[in-house]
Amino acid sequence: MSLVLNVRNFLSLRDVSITFDYLNVLVGPNASGKSNIIRALEFVSKFIKSGKVAIDTLFGDRDFSDVTFHGGGGQIAFELKFRDVNYVLKMEPGSLLEEVYHGSNLIFKRASSINKEQISYLDPSGSWKSIVNSNASRSIAGQISIPTYQFSKQNNCHNLESAISILASIGVYSFDPEFIKTRSHAATKLELGKKGNNLARLLFHYYLADKFLFRNIVETFTMLAPDVEEIVPISKGDIISLFLKEKNSDKLIDFEFASGGYLKMLAILASLMGENIIVAYDDIESFIDRCVYDTIMYIIKKFGRIVIMTTHSPHLLDYVEPKNIILVSKINGETKVRRLTDSIDVEAIKTCR
Ligand SMILES: Nc1ncnc2c1ncn2[C@@H]1O[C@H](COP(=O)(O)OP(=O)(O)O)[C@@H](O)[C@H]1O
Ligand SMILES: [Mg+2]
Repeated sequence: MSLVLNVRNFLSLRDVSITFDYLNVLVGPNASGKSNIIRALEFVSKFIKSGKVAIDTLFGDRDFSDVTFHGGGGQIAFELKFRDVNYVLKMEPGSLLEEVYHGSNLIFKRASSINKEQISYLDPSGSWKSIVNSNASRSIAGQISIPTYQFSKQNNCHNLESAISILASIGVYSFDPEFIKTRSHAATKLELGKKGNNLARLLFHYYLADKFLFRNIVETFTMLAPDVEEIVPISKGDIISLFLKEKNSDKLIDFEFASGGYLKMLAILASLMGENIIVAYDDIESFIDRCVYDTIMYIIKKFGRIVIMTTHSPHLLDYVEPKNIILVSKINGETKVRRLTDSIDVEAIKTCR
């Protein structure tokens, strides 16, 4: 089973097609475009869930042309194919096209311009319906009228919902211990933040509502952190905090004072063992001691998600096969990708040849 991502005219990705397998390790020089590939995945999955049109709602206060290839403007296009679903998103200032195919059949289409939006979809009885909204789109902070994922639910389009829910379950993370350690508010959305914020909220939820998953996460974590006995979520008022119980002490360690590597590994496990079907990690190895790379890669393979990661560590490559490695390079200012086939290539990368 593979996931195909095609991107055109987005950052350094002028025209890139990548076929991901279950395990994908993106390596390559600084500024070759590894994180840009992760950003493309993030953009599409966020768009499916939240339906934000304006680039500035996804990348801060930026102009559309800033995220086009070399600032040349024009249309940005994304295509994601997974199982029998094909999702297409094309956007340029003032217009947007979204299409969802099930097999080769079109089941959803949205064409919008500044003040008009037309949605056509296959309804549950199998007939085509059309909705035309004049003055519809972009009114609320650049948001399209109904994001695709919500649209499929509201209209009982089961085919569309099952198609799109997979693409909406892409988790994209760039974990940072300073964010992972923060306390959570009980009222926040039950979603792990890109940098790892909200981990306390998520683990507390698992602790109350899915004890089996919580235990599984803690037990898997102790494979990586053998001196830890327990993870303890504590809720006071509407604030949730996390603590570590280590083996040689009764004192609970507040996450504020926990090891950055431990925090990062715990966030990786929570994102990997939860609901995501496809998980992407930017700079996965930062903060983590290389002595646990083998265990981390063992765990990542074990849970059977589609995992995409970028790394700068040659040591991590010792624990994957050449076919799991995608070499990212920049040629004449544009990102190119190539999946490796043999170990000679891997040695060349490790020694910077
Ligand atoms: N609009 C753009 N058009 C073309 N290239 C861009 C654009 N924006 C950023 N880049 C390139 O992307 C690089 C950053 O790529 P990134 O994926 O973050 O690197 P890395 O491989 O180190 O993760 C920048 O240094 C720049 O060369
Ligand atoms: Mg990067």
